[in-house]
Amino acid sequence: MKRLTSILTVSLVFVLCACAGNNTKQAVGEQSNSANMKKKTTLVAYFSATGTTKAAAEKLAEVVDADLHEIQPAQPYTAADLDWHNKKSRSSVEMEDKSSRPAIKNKVNNMDQYSTVYIGYPIWWYIAPTIINTFVEQYNLEGKTVIPFFTSGGSEAGKTMKYLTPSAPKANWKDPINLTGKSKDEIKDIVK
Ligand SMILES: Cc1cc2nc3c(=O)[nH]c(=O)nc-3n(C[C@H](O)[C@H](O)[C@H](O)COP(=O)(O)O)c2cc1C
Repeated sequence: MKRLTSILTVSLVFVLCACAGNNTKQAVGEQSNSANMKKKTTLVAYFSATGTTKAAAEKLAEVVDADLHEIQPAQPYTAADLDWHNKKSRSSVEMEDKSSRPAIKNKVNNMDQYSTVYIGYPIWWYIAPTIINTFVEQYNLEGKTVIPFFTSGGSEAGKTMKYLTPSAPKANWKDPINLTGKSKDEIKDIVK
């Protein structure tokens, strides 16, 4: 009987040790997971009316290991809105009036987290759409590195900076990057 009690005691101790060991491993695993979940310090925010800038933004966010944020207009742009042949279309009217500030539906809630912000857009009438001014004016970008990027039908950045920088005069603006038709490898080289 005494021998049986000893065997049971030893077995119990063994089982308890094994459980404790598993728990320790789990705790270490949890720790390394939370280390991997470190908050990103770079944000890629973009507006895209027809998907081209969106595709570029997605590649860029992977390359620079950034969070991705789509700037969504409160009122989405229809094909008629985007008709640049029509002087009365929504985009023509907005771009004619440099003080227009089309409303945005969503927000970046944790902008303080980011030290570098890439801002992407399609070139409209040789500059950034005025909804980008709306976006920039919603945040305190003072001291942050802000890097515009764009896609276009062939134009370069034009007077983008002339109309964009006054919306965040204390940001550390960099020259706009043209990502039209660029592959992920090409983007890697560009942002080096
Ligand atoms: C209203 C409007 C104005 C545009 N103006 C220009 C322009 O001045 N120069 C240019 O090269 N492309 C211009 N484009 C073409 C877009 O810049 C190009 O198709 C862009 O890649 C679209 O990006 P998205 O699909 O992200 O909206 C214009 C497009 C629209 C709808």
